Amino acid sequence: MTQLPPQLHYLHHDQLSTLCLENVSIKQLATQVDTPFYCYSKAGLVNNISACKAAFEPENIHIHYAMKANSNLSLLRIVAEQGLGVDIVSIGEMQRALNAGFNAQDIVFSGVGKTTSELTAALRAGVGQFNVESKEELSALISVTSECQQSVSALIRVNPEITVDTHKNITTGAKGNKFGVSFNDVLPMLAAAKQSPFLNINGLAMHIGSQIHSVAPYLDAIAKIRALLNRLEAQDYPLTHLDLGGGFGIQYRDNQALNKTDSTAAQHYLTFADFANAIKSALPDWQGRLSVEPGRSLVADIGVMVSEITYRKESQPTPFLVLDAAMNDLMRPALYQANHALIPVQQPRSSLLTQYDIVGPVCESTDTFAKSVQLSSELTAGELMCFLDAGAYCAVMSNSYNSRTIIAEVLVDDNQAHVIREPITQTDLMAFEQHRRLAKI
Ligand SMILES: Cc1ncc(COP(=O)(O)O)c(C=O)c1O
Repeated sequence: MTQLPPQLHYLHHDQLSTLCLENVSIKQLATQVDTPFYCYSKAGLVNNISACKAAFEPENIHIHYAMKANSNLSLLRIVAEQGLGVDIVSIGEMQRALNAGFNAQDIVFSGVGKTTSELTAALRAGVGQFNVESKEELSALISVTSECQQSVSALIRVNPEITVDTHKNITTGAKGNKFGVSFNDVLPMLAAAKQSPFLNINGLAMHIGSQIHSVAPYLDAIAKIRALLNRLEAQDYPLTHLDLGGGFGIQYRDNQALNKTDSTAAQHYLTFADFANAIKSALPDWQGRLSVEPGRSLVADIGVMVSEITYRKESQPTPFLVLDAAMNDLMRPALYQANHALIPVQQPRSSLLTQYDIVGPVCESTDTFAKSVQLSSELTAGELMCFLDAGAYCAVMSNSYNSRTIIAEVLVDDNQAHVIREPITQTDLMAFEQHRRLAKI
């Protein structure tokens, strides 16, 4: 049977079974924090980081957490305390990284559209590595370094043009993707950079996509990049750093699997160690620096989103559970047709199941979390539900569409819970639209 995430369990008391994250009852928490809200486990994060370090560090592979997956300051502080570096894609993310305690030297600046002002700000802050994604960005970076008279290290992000078996919206290393440059562009870019006394290009970067469940595309991409490195070395451009990006897939639980009792159909999911071993085996004679940028695999399974059923709307052919959470709170189902398992906070007494469509209140048909899900027949309005594996690419994407509150985030540590982001209410948001605050242009 598919298991719940490690920090989540039902506690049996007085013939009731109530869901707890670590030693905090979600039901109890929901009396203090308005639903919907996100809730993360600190132990879950620390354990994931430890597993990642145990796999990559002995191989001398440096880890930079891709904070786009979840950039809450409290979580970032934990990541920084655990000694990881960080991968950013905007100056806003740089500000968060610095605020959370990362050293500027441990920041990698990725992203396809860094503006001149972002490049300047990152240079001034002392960001350790720029991953350059185009000839045009290279020219901008050369100008900025010479204006600031400041040296900088950079990698060129290449597009290895390989196919990856994942959702089409999260491939990044296939032909036609906007990320990185083609192999043919690398040599002219190195030659251009050589003209600059400030820009030191010492390697190549790649990131081939997200939610990848096989080492094969990494092996293919690394083999292609290794051959390119050999050609570059032969032309007097020895490069000593390879940044292999993130993308390590996780097991998103779904209701169908949770309802199953036999384990025979269970898929094998790769571990950090599987990816680390594959990387090492693909680069047996590599003496240079290696790094990776995991995001989702560090934070996805540490989080849940808690929501209350507003209505059980009887309908043909399928009843709806209308939740108080919507696509603005958790966008992945609307954006990527992602499936997040939904489980009741109070375990139902009867094992009878009914098929439901799970929807939110937003005025869009895409505000549908799941269709034809088998859940307890007892479910009714007022019941609390939890979306699983909601720690990555969830809260960070939330917005205020339909003038909805941007919901709270809570961090659980053993039997303590802390609000780590207050809800951003309409009062907060409307304040930015009040006449007395608006600048005359
Ligand atoms: C450059 C880069 N590195 C790392 C990541 C993290 O990917 P994942 O969360 O799948 O590990 C991303 C995600 O889009 C990315 O664009």
